[in-house]
Parts: sequence; C-alpha cells; structure tokens
Amino acid sequence: MIQSFAFPNQILFGAGALQSLPDELKKLDCGRPLLVTDRGLVACGLAGRVEEAIRKAGLEPAVFDEVDANPTEENAEQGLLAYSNSACDGIVGLGGGSSLDTAKAIKLKVDHSLPLAEYDIEHQGWEKMVNPMPPMIAIATTAGTGSDVARGALIIVRPAGAKVALVGPALYPDVTIADPELTLALPPNLTAGTGMDAFTHCIEEYLSPKYNPIVDGMALEGIRLCAISLKRACENGQDLAARSDMMIAAMIGGMGFIKGLGVVHSLSHPVGSVVGGHHGTTNAIFLPASLEFNLPAAPAKYRALANAAGIEVHNLSDEECGHALIQFVRQLNNSLEIPSDLSVFGATRNHIDQMLPMCVADHCHKTNPRQCVEDDFRSLLEAHIPA
Ligand SMILES: [Fe+2]
Repeated sequence: MIQSFAFPNQILFGAGALQSLPDELKKLDCGRPLLVTDRGLVACGLAGRVEEAIRKAGLEPAVFDEVDANPTEENAEQGLLAYSNSACDGIVGLGGGSSLDTAKAIKLKVDHSLPLAEYDIEHQGWEKMVNPMPPMIAIATTAGTGSDVARGALIIVRPAGAKVALVGPALYPDVTIADPELTLALPPNLTAGTGMDAFTHCIEEYLSPKYNPIVDGMALEGIRLCAISLKRACENGQDLAARSDMMIAAMIGGMGFIKGLGVVHSLSHPVGSVVGGHHGTTNAIFLPASLEFNLPAAPAKYRALANAAGIEVHNLSDEECGHALIQFVRQLNNSLEIPSDLSVFGATRNHIDQMLPMCVADHCHKTNPRQCVEDDFRSLLEAHIPA
C-alpha cells in the first residue's frame, strides 16, 4: 500500500524571527494584509507591535480582532467582511489556535462560498477547496496548538454548534514565523494549558495506528522536549531556552496531525463547543484516564512513550511502563496546577447527553488505538464531571 506523507511550509524559527515578517509579505506580493487576532493580543500590545512592523516596511495592514476563544463561523464571516472592505490581498494570523484557525477559515471563505460545514473533513471537504486562496503567514503566540504548521482549522458552525474540522493542503500557511520571544509573556496557566495540548498531540499521534514512522520519531522528540521544558517554562516565563523547546514541540505536534489524534481530542472538542473550556487544559484533564483506557491496546508503545518522557524503563514490563507514564502525567498536571475535573469550566452531568453524540461524531478517535464507543465516552466524561 502506498502511503502519503506531507510536511508543510517554510518555517522561520528563532528569537527575533518576527523581524522577517515584512520581507515575507513582500515575497508573497502582499501589500495589504488582514491581521487576524484577538482582543487580548491587542490589549497586551503584541498586535500593535506586529502592525507597526508591517507599517515600517511601507505596507498598510487592516486588523480584525474579534476572534472568540472557541472560534465560530460568524467570526470567519466578520473577518471576511473586514478583508473585503479593506481590499486586502493576504492574511496574517497572529495568536493561538483560535486566531490561526479563524485566519484559515477567512482564507478559505475569500473564494469559497459554501457554509463551512460543507468543507468538513467528514464530507471530503478538501475536494471542494478548488479555488486559489490568498497567501497567509502564521505567527503563533502560544506554544501548543500547532495550527501554524498544520493544514486544518477547527470552527464551531451553525446550526448544531459542533466543531467541524476544515482540512486540506490548501490551508497550510505559506510561511510560519515561530518566534519564541512572542511567548515570553504568556501567563503560567496558559503556558501550562497550551503546552499540555502540544504534549497530548505528540502522545496521541504516536499511539495512532496509522503508518508514519517519520511522525513517530518526531512525536517522541516532542514528548522529550515537553517533559524537560514545560514545567520550566511555567515556572519562569522568561526562560527562552524552555520557551524555544516548547515552540518546537508544538510545531512537531502540528506536523504530526497527518497521522491522526485520539480519544482525548474527541472528548475535548465537545467540551469546548458546549461549555467552552480551554482546549489544552481539557486535554490535560482527560489525558491520564485516556492513557489508562488505551494501555491494553498498545502496551509496547507505552515503553517508548515512557522512555521519551525520561522515565527509567529498563526493569519495567510494557504495562509497568504504561502505569509509570500515566503517573508521570498525573504528577505533571499537579505541578502545572491543571484542574482535576471539568467543573471549573461549568460542566455538569446535565451536559453529558449533549456532549456524547459530538464525541462519537468527532473524527479524532478514528485513529485511537482502541475503539471507543458511546458507553466508553460516557464513562470517560462521567469520570471528569462530579455528580
Ligand atoms: Fe489539540
């Protein structure tokens, strides 16, 4: 069987990489970019810094800063309006996954008029992405989502309120600017949540049964980097080496999406849609129990995962490696002050019936190493929502 391996775009990585933005815009023939970001990044001055960098090069950006934490089709429509009203000719996505995913949805909508649900991966949406799209540069301000190097975007669509996955090679940003200096001011709770998103991506990708040894190798390195640097980045936000490690781990996670994710993401997506919890944090909450659920299906892989996380594995059986890894993740969550359940986001047992069909419909668990059916999802949700 012939396998398809795809790795993405040009990446400019390193402290100060933001300085290359004007040149990259010019190379893409983009004179009037739409800067897609959120109000938080405007308030902290980072969006203004990027605008200034663009202006200094003689280019005139427009700004759309109304991206929600869990972005919606309405966000993309409002962004499209800003793009058209300002006669833009390219897009700069600046932020975490929400801004970058919205930027991709706007890029798609510029010349594709169907409702976003029609471009869902479940409906072979990539086959409908037939028209040329404007150029896009992605600038991540968190280290977690991986959206800056990935070909997908998650958007909440009407009328069901579910998250759909827009996935297609045309959605890769043309250029990724990965500047760890932009993450130095990220507060500890967001550093923890976004970092645990990257960690979860690498773990789920490694456990995915799809054949892609290239991603496997990268994912283990991503796990190693998270294990040595996530806590450090939380304890001292100014630790540029730790921030750099986490930015690389996040990009590794993003490049690995082509191998697929797993049950953690199929649990987290409905939580984001229904009660709006922070994605990476909900992943962290679900990760230990999901690792327990998956252990019987792939014990040998847990040895490699544990080894990558720095656990001494030589005298342990594969199962013991699995339990040691799960214990490691629980301790990491505790040290990062990750909440122990979803009540912190307002989730109650009454939400479970609404979340369940969304979990089952979510595409991520198709590459989970163990089949997860509705009763399994119910048990996993109940275990994280107090009665
Ligand atoms: Fe994620």
